[in-house]
Amino acid sequence: MRGAGPPWPLLLLLLLLLLGPALPARAAAPAPPRLNVSLDAAPGARWLPVLRAFDPALLRSAVLQIIRARVPDWVLALLGSASAELPRLLPGPYAEEIRGVCDFLHLRLADGLLVNLAYESSAFCTSIVAQDSAGRIYHGRNLDYSFGDILRQLTVDVQFLKNGQVAFTGTTFVGYVGLWTGQSPYKFTVSGDERDKGWWWENAVAALLRGHSPISWLLRTTLSEAESFEAAVFRLAKTPLIADVYFIVGGTAPREGVVITRNRGGPADIWPLDPLNGAWFRVETNYDHWKPAPKRDDRRTPAIKALNATGQAHLSLEALFQVLSVVPVYNNYTIYTTVMSATSPDKYTTRVRHLS
Ligand SMILES: *[C@@H]1O[C@H](CO)[C@@H](O)[C@H](O)[C@H]1NC(C)=O
Ligand SMILES: *[C@@H]1O[C@H](CO)[C@@H](O)[C@H](O)[C@H]1NC(C)=O
Ligand SMILES: *[C@@H]1O[C@H](CO)[C@@H](O)[C@H](O)[C@H]1NC(C)=O
Repeated sequence: MRGAGPPWPLLLLLLLLLLGPALPARAAAPAPPRLNVSLDAAPGARWLPVLRAFDPALLRSAVLQIIRARVPDWVLALLGSASAELPRLLPGPYAEEIRGVCDFLHLRLADGLLVNLAYESSAFCTSIVAQDSAGRIYHGRNLDYSFGDILRQLTVDVQFLKNGQVAFTGTTFVGYVGLWTGQSPYKFTVSGDERDKGWWWENAVAALLRGHSPISWLLRTTLSEAESFEAAVFRLAKTPLIADVYFIVGGTAPREGVVITRNRGGPADIWPLDPLNGAWFRVETNYDHWKPAPKRDDRRTPAIKALNATGQAHLSLEALFQVLSVVPVYNNYTIYTTVMSATSPDKYTTRVRHLS
């Protein structure tokens, strides 16, 4: 019988040879869906087109699993019982957006708020802002977090529309209305890396009740409203937050690149590019740049080595992606890599990563 049909094994081999080199690379780093969220729609309705592209059962179980693992019981009790008050306390359209998401998924508003808060903590990340020899600014980031098996499936690039036009772009997980990564075209790019000083929930809840902003909400509001690199840096540096953080910002002109080290109340340190003195890049992971990175988690030195080896003259978005692919900068927790440059907004590129 086998002899009578076509030579399947041979055909398969041929196919594998043809597709072989391309397939594994693409399978290892696929682009996430790119979807639109129209800010012209009411906050409660604007995420529905995104939600409809996903399995609601997967979304519901992701929310509940992350809350169970991440949110302490006392926070559940406190915010659960105060959830009627919370929307009044929370700034901007975000509480209404979360309410819309919860209604669609048949979840309690408190669960939606809690999972959005849970995503604010315990991320380990690497961000790099750099300037090439021609003065162009590039920005890249790895987002490292637990729950990779779920969150890789929920990663999306979102284009936020105003009057039908793309006003800004960001990368997030479906159900999380804030942004840790984004681009305002021809103005600036920004990413956030966690700066954990311990007692995260205690401090965050207290600050939230004082009216401070979640980090990812400030990042998104800045993308939406800041008119320039300087205006973005000013806003990101001074607006009160619920937790410490590092903001990395890239602009459109030479020397427009900075790492802002944030305390809850305001800036702790501003660390700009200084290319005339050889500092053509800044690397920020999750530790203050003026202190050595801890030996147990040094992703900073490997990133600097890889940038040194690349050289300023050979910097590009592709080269930056390669730097962000060096282990352990790229590690088992890495969920996505984004590279971007505000002067070339169409080159905004995210890849979902999976080391092992
Ligand atoms: C998103 O909006 C842009 C700008 O209006 C449009 O060109 C594009 O086709 C939209 N994409 C999707 C997936 O609807
Ligand atoms: C990177 O290059 C700079 C400038 O040559 C050098 O001072 C630094 O030690 C290098 N760092 C690493 C980690 O290779
Ligand atoms: C990733 O996890 C695998 C298996 O658990 C382990 O062998 C490997 O060392 C880890 N890699 C990194 C870079 O941590």
